[in-house]
This record gives sequence, C-alpha cells and structure tokens, in this order.
Amino acid sequence: FPGLKTADSPSQRVGGQPLSAFKQVTHAVPMMSLDNTYSAEEVAEFVNRVQKLLPGEKLEWVVEPKLDGVAVTLRYEDGVLVLGATRGDGTMGDDITANLKTIRSLPLSFEFKQTPKKESAHHDLFGQGKAVLEVRGEVFMPIEGFRKVNAAREAAGEELFVNARNSTAGSLKQLDSKLVAQRPLAMVLYGSGEISPELGWKPESQVELIDGLKKFGFKTPEKRWVCHSTEELLAAIAELDQLRKGFAYETDGAVIKLNSFVQRARIGSTSKAPRWAMAYKYAAERVETRLKAITIQVGRTGALTPVAELEPVFVAGSTVARATLHNEEELRRKDIRVGDHVIIEKAGEVIPAVVEVVLSKRTGTEQPFQFPRECPECGSKISRGADDPEDQGVVWRCVNLDCPAQVRGRIEHWCARGAMDIEGGGEVLVGQLVRSGLVKDVANLYQLTLEPLAALERMGEKSAQNFLAGLETSKTRDAWRLLFGLGILHVGAGVAKALGRAYTDVDAIFQSSAEQLQAVEDVGEVIARSLVQWGQQERNRDLLDRLRQSGLNFKSSLYQAAAPQGPFSGKTFVLTGTLPTLTREAATAKIEALGGKTSSSVSKKTDYVLAGEEAGSKLEKAQKLGVRILDEAEFLKLCGAL
Ligand code: IVH
Repeated sequence: FPGLKTADSPSQRVGGQPLSAFKQVTHAVPMMSLDNTYSAEEVAEFVNRVQKLLPGEKLEWVVEPKLDGVAVTLRYEDGVLVLGATRGDGTMGDDITANLKTIRSLPLSFEFKQTPKKESAHHDLFGQGKAVLEVRGEVFMPIEGFRKVNAAREAAGEELFVNARNSTAGSLKQLDSKLVAQRPLAMVLYGSGEISPELGWKPESQVELIDGLKKFGFKTPEKRWVCHSTEELLAAIAELDQLRKGFAYETDGAVIKLNSFVQRARIGSTSKAPRWAMAYKYAAERVETRLKAITIQVGRTGALTPVAELEPVFVAGSTVARATLHNEEELRRKDIRVGDHVIIEKAGEVIPAVVEVVLSKRTGTEQPFQFPRECPECGSKISRGADDPEDQGVVWRCVNLDCPAQVRGRIEHWCARGAMDIEGGGEVLVGQLVRSGLVKDVANLYQLTLEPLAALERMGEKSAQNFLAGLETSKTRDAWRLLFGLGILHVGAGVAKALGRAYTDVDAIFQSSAEQLQAVEDVGEVIARSLVQWGQQERNRDLLDRLRQSGLNFKSSLYQAAAPQGPFSGKTFVLTGTLPTLTREAATAKIEALGGKTSSSVSKKTDYVLAGEEAGSKLEKAQKLGVRILDEAEFLKLCGAL
C-alpha cells in the first residue's frame, strides 16, 4: 500500500531488491496460508485443539469450498477500488490492479453509508477519514474457459498450460492488461483484511462478512455450511465433495473456519497460518483410460523411466495423456501391459500415476512390455546400482555421461527456475542447442554468441538477445543455485542451501572430505559420498574451472560464520509446539546468544528438543531417539544456570 511506504524502506534502496515490472506493495494485514488435513481424524483433532484454546465455549464453524486459484487482496477506499495485489510472500505482493480490473464480475466501486467523520480513526493529512474495505479471495479460471485458452494456444503452436490454476497465475503475471482482459478469469471473495470504522459496517462473523459482501455486489462462495460439531463438519465436507463435481471451476478441498471473529482474534495464528481455520484436502481423483503404449524417458541422471502413453482423459483439472510408471519393478508388480485399461490417479500439481490395471477388461491381446537392455537414446550400456541405496537397486541408468538425453536434462535443469533461473532455457531451445552441437555442457552456454543462436529455427534476434541477457544475469546467482544447478545426485535445493550456509564458496565444498561434509546439517553419508565422487571426476573439475573462467559467482551469500562461543556451543536444539510464554523467535534468540543452533528436524545430532503445547511428530521422534526433552521452565533454568 503506497501510503505505508516510507522513504527509508529497504524496497526503496537502489538494488536493495530485484525490481520486477510490477510495483511491490506491503499488505496492511498479512496474507496467511492454511494448514492442511486429509482425514476425518485430523478434522476431529483440529476441532479439539480449538476447543482446548477456547475452553467451555460454544463453537460455530463455517465450511466453504476451497477454490484452486490465485489468492489476491483488494482495497477499496470510499467505495472505489484503489489497489489489487497478489499474496506474494504473505507480507508483500505485486500490485496487479490493472489486471484485476479486467475481471468483469469484480465491482470497481460499491455503495455504502458513510459514518460521520468525527468518529474517524483513519485520518489522512487533512484529517479526513477514509472508508477502507479490504477484501480477499481467489481468482480462478472456470474449467470451460481454461479448455478454450489451451485450445487457442495449441492452434497457435504455443506451450499449453498444465492446469487452470497455472493458467490463472500466468494470466495475472501479464504486464499488458489488454491480454489479461482476453482471459476468462473470475473471482470469489471469502475473507477480509483492514476495515475502517468510516465504512459503517463491521462484520463480526464469517456469515455476516459473506452476506454483507454479497449485498455490496461481490461474488462469494456458491455454497456454505454452518456446523456445530465434528460430525456436522464431516457431513458438510462429504456433501461438498459430491456437489463440487458439478461446479464450473476447480476445487481441491473444503475450508473450515471458526465463524466468530472475536473467537478468531483470541486464538490468533502461528507464523504461517491461522489457528482458527483448516483446509481439508480431498483425495486424489481417479479415472479409467487405455494404455496405448509405453515409452522410456531418459533423465538427466541417466535414469530410465517407463512412461505410460494414454488415451487422453480429463482428471483433476487437466487433460492427462502421459503418466509415470516409475520403474521396471513397478511395471512387473502391477502387471501392466500395453493395451490395458488402467486407473490413473492425480491430485492437483502431482504428476499423474498409473495405480492399477482393470483386469476385468483384459481381452488377451494386451502385450507385456519388454524393458530395454540398453539406453534407448544412445544405445549405451545400462546398469542398476546397488551402490545407491536410495534407488534400492531398481532404477536402471544409462552409463554414458555424454548420452544426449542426459546432456539435455542437465542443461535444462541448470536453466530451471529453482536453479539458475535462465528465461528461455526450456526443453525446446536446449534440444536445439544440443542437437546443433553448439552446447555440450552448461559451461558452453556462456560461450554462446548472438549469430549462431539467432540462426536457430524459430529463434530470431530478439529471443536470442533475451536468452544471452538471461545467461549474463545468471552469472551473479548465489553459490547454492550453482551447486543445485550442477545436478549432482541427491543434492537438492535444500541441501545446496545448507552447504551454502556452511561454506564460503563452491570450491571449499569440493575440497572437503566426506566426513567434513557430514558435519553439515542435513548432509548424510549418501549425499556426502555423492558430492565427493562428483568432485573427484576430471570432467567435473574441468567444468567448474570453465564456469569460473566465464565469470560465474562461486561465493555464498548464505554463509554464516560459526555461532558465537558460549555454553550452548555445539548444541543443537529443535523447537516444537507452542511455548507458554516465549515466542519461537525469542527462544531461538536465547539459544543463539548462548552459542547454540536450532534445526527444524529431529535427528541423532539433536541435543535438546524444546517442546510446548501441541508438540507433534517431532516430540515422538525425540522420544524414540532418546533425545533430551525440555519444557520451557527447564529450558529457562538451563539458560539461567549457565
Ligand atoms: S480462507 C488466512 N477460504 O487456499 C488464510 N482460503 O491453502 C485464509 N482458498 O491462501 C484463507 N478457497 O488462497 C480461504 N474459501 C476459502 C478458500 C481459500 C481457497 C485458498 C487461499 C489460501 C489457500 C490456502
């Protein structure tokens, strides 16, 4: 909100924050997320938990459909829409007002009865109180609209959206609102942020809020249930599951909320989510289709994955034509044959999988699949390593590091958003770069020049320039991204960050022994060995040299020098549950001030678990491992005694 922006805000410093084309705005009231539940037991636990926080009180619940779209907030001043923003990280989001204004069902203004100015608590410079209404909801694309958008993209030879949610997110990211106006977006409101007294309306419950918003002309959830017990909640959730199949848009669950705003305020929130609400996620959807063929995909680590080529079906929000069959063992165990009718399962973003064969539909003409004995991409030997415990010896891998599929996979991974984030470095371009012989490994990318790049099919000078600019930017990325981008077996983004915190630069990591690496949080034997093996190979050392020569950043900005020396030096704490007086931040600060460290997961390396109310699985694990468990009083005594 521009009014809250101060001249000394970090976002106003040049270079303090990467500039995006959208203006960044800070939310007056943070936008939180919801915790998830998946079973009736978990719903009952949630109800009990809230009841314990509000002992003896009558609880009234509201159940609403959980829309699968993009959360936004809208700010109206004196009845006029002045700002629309995305959730962003919950504290700050993008100002997408122009895009949201294109949503036809969204009122640009509404009528209200202004209260006398003198009661105002919201004065601007001239002493005038503004009537502020901030409402929150979900922008989404109805299923039919999503299909049309994708059909048009297909006709234009553009990449298809995976599902309606991605299509919505993609639309809202457009800088040109004229393009957004062509997308069939809709919006439903289910919450509020700031509401000033000048508005003359102060809802005290979810029911009052929704009914009031409806009167103002806003779209609200098409159905809701008011419940008074776990039984009623479960009945509502079951009824919604039936109804939602007929909705014109995607829903992936139910949201359970405490009706009373006073009760909500009394139990508050954790750092991520309110304690008064919960999402119930419906089980993955299953549909039947026919398996037309099985193909083999070779990944960047050489893994051969059998893929089911299916008769396309619509499930959980998108058309599915391919599903993973995991590995050879899985194929055999489920006795999947080409021509079979199969049941596939998909939930939201998850990659669809084949769950089982419909044996009753077997005709006898189905063909068992012959798993290849060599790499289908390059004809090299394949092996399955007993040396890799994580694979459990079931994954066949192509042993040829120069296998074109592996080369492509490694380069795509390097360019991916979670790694070096190089715009344009997707499947199509990387395929062309490798096929044309221009690029054999990620270091070659930095030798590319405009002319040969622009000469590639469907490329052109503009795209070539953009890609080169993206490569240039990637040179400054933090060390953990580079490390993750290298695609070393078992080194995911989380591990790369942990290494970035423990080492000053990439070279220091590869100069360490497996034992030294294992001293790093989250780095176990398998990961340490994988890192050492990778670093010992001549070709990899050479790759690092060439990346360094091209000017890539090897330094870690995450590096934190060892904690201050103190009585807790070398001790690791895990915090779980809610402590009676200390906040999580305060407890962490105490631990760190005394030289200790905190970690998010319990392991053999944990020295103490500091447990409060509602401590869950971490406490159980600590008990199992025999880790010393402290309550707040014991912890404070320990701090004081030392
Ligand atoms: S209430 C404090 N109600 O689900 C957050 N959220 O997984 C209150 N969502 O971020 C959210 N339908 O984007 C609420 N009827 C509904 C919802 C809903 C969809 C989204 C929302 C939220 C996400 C959490």
